[in-house]
Amino acid sequence: MATARGPVWLGAAVSALLWLSLSLTPARGQNAGFVKSPLSETKLTGDTIELYCDVVGNPTPEIQWWYAEVNRGDSFIQLWDGARKRRVSINTAYGSNGVSVLRVTRLALEDTGTYECRASNDPRRNDLRQNPAITWIRAQATVVILPKPKITPSEDVVLKPTSSPIILYCNLTFAPIPSNGSYWIKDGEEIAGTRNSSGANSTEYKINKPKTESSGEYHCLFMFENSPSANASIEIKALPEIVGHKRSENKNEGQSALMYCKSVGYPYPVWTWHKKVDNEIVELNNATGRYFITNKGNYSELIIENLHIQDDPGEYLCNASNYIGHSFVVTILRVRSHLAPLWPFLGVVAEILILVIIIVIYEKRKRPDEVPDDDEPVSGPMKTNSTNNHKDKNLRQRNTN
Ligand SMILES: *[C@@H]1O[C@H](CO)[C@@H](O)[C@H](O)[C@H]1NC(C)=O
Ligand SMILES: *[C@@H]1O[C@H](CO)[C@@H](O)[C@H](O)[C@H]1NC(C)=O
Ligand SMILES: *[C@@H]1O[C@H](CO)[C@@H](O)[C@H](O)[C@H]1NC(C)=O
Ligand SMILES: *[C@@H]1O[C@H](CO)[C@@H](O)[C@H](O)[C@H]1NC(C)=O
Ligand SMILES: *[C@@H]1O[C@H](CO)[C@@H](O)[C@H](O)[C@H]1NC(C)=O
Ligand SMILES: *[C@@H]1O[C@H](CO)[C@@H](O)[C@H](O)[C@H]1NC(C)=O
Ligand SMILES: *[C@@H]1O[C@H](CO)[C@@H](O)[C@H](O)[C@H]1NC(C)=O
Ligand SMILES: *[C@@H]1O[C@H](CO)[C@@H](O)[C@H](O)[C@H]1NC(C)=O
Repeated sequence: MATARGPVWLGAAVSALLWLSLSLTPARGQNAGFVKSPLSETKLTGDTIELYCDVVGNPTPEIQWWYAEVNRGDSFIQLWDGARKRRVSINTAYGSNGVSVLRVTRLALEDTGTYECRASNDPRRNDLRQNPAITWIRAQATVVILPKPKITPSEDVVLKPTSSPIILYCNLTFAPIPSNGSYWIKDGEEIAGTRNSSGANSTEYKINKPKTESSGEYHCLFMFENSPSANASIEIKALPEIVGHKRSENKNEGQSALMYCKSVGYPYPVWTWHKKVDNEIVELNNATGRYFITNKGNYSELIIENLHIQDDPGEYLCNASNYIGHSFVVTILRVRSHLAPLWPFLGVVAEILILVIIIVIYEKRKRPDEVPDDDEPVSGPMKTNSTNNHKDKNLRQRNTN
């Protein structure tokens, strides 16, 4: 029996060893390893968080996301795409690496906890008898959600032509931790000199001489140590003011004319272009398809292609309007004929022609016996020659007489 059992036992051991070695070191394989692991973050309620996980390995590792409440590291639950009433989304791409993004939108205080990226390319990774701590690698991030601070800003302002100083202010009425400073932003850029690190719960910004350029979108921003800042917005609105345009545009027929208008004033205007026809302002009629209008916020451009000498000259208006009001300016378009460059030449030709005609008439009216005065001033070589010729002729005529 012993001799019979020997080879069976040996065979089992060899196949087990073979299986073990194959599974532990897959042919030219590489164990899973993190290239990028999720980072711990503090966020405010209502915000969105994105956690990244990037893993290498051969074969490409599988990625999973798990979650545990604070101090409950022993009870992780797996997260799937669409969890938490669809606020959780998981996007994973398997290429040469495994890359996954976990996104949680409309964050709530209960989203606070430990988020774990797990990765494995171990063939036994889904075998329930295996200890996942051995077959999976794990990377954790701690996510803290704080209640969003509340800021009460002053009201929006509409600039009047005779504006007295304007004061914008913000009160921080609720904050989970004390503020460590504040500053002001205009149109997305920090306003120099407005930083205040007193930690006060209110801040103000004064504009002593408000101009149209002062209009825009303002934000007050309160900072918090190791936690996201909070902001509130105040708008200063103003009638658009056109600060740049061409008074006139002079072109030849067949060429293109370019007219433009630039404005200041918030909000950016809606632009329209018009033409004065018989003292009436009419919308441009694009029946010929030669008008091209480009609007870029505070800038508008009208191009008229292939200018017509009859239809196109005149007064053009650009009209900038927002809900405060509107303003417009006029550009005069002049269109010259194709012949325009020839005019100086034609002028000279005409001048010569007129001179010749005058001379001919003058000579014809002269009585034949009239002797020209030698002191008579002469204005050109042509004239001199012709009078001389006539003089000779007269002399000859007299001689024959
Ligand atoms: C901010 O607080 C100050 C002082 O408590 C108060 O006078 C002011 O009206 C408040 N402003 C706003 C916009 O709530
Ligand atoms: C910061 O704000 C406090 C309270 O509003 C004020 O008293 C202080 O003058 C400000 N400091 C600076 C540098 O503006
Ligand atoms: C700001 O308000 C918080 C409560 O929201 C309070 O704890 C803190 O003392 C206040 N800071 C100042 C400078 O008034
Ligand atoms: C306040 O905290 C933020 C975030 O930690 C930091 O960037 C900033 O420098 C701090 N400000 C001051 C005045 O200490
Ligand atoms: C102001 O807060 C909003 C979210 O409440 C944020 O999306 C925005 O980027 C913040 N703006 C600035 C200038 O920090
Ligand atoms: C128009 O807006 C751009 C940014 O959109 C700004 O850089 C530029 O200064 C503005 N021009 C005028 C005349 O306000
Ligand atoms: C005028 O017509 C041309 C050709 O149909 C078109 O490309 C262009 O956008 C039009 N311009 C305006 C201002 O509607
Ligand atoms: C400019 O546009 C405004 C708003 O659309 C309009 O009321 C106004 O009549 C226009 N002005 C001219 C000169 O076309």
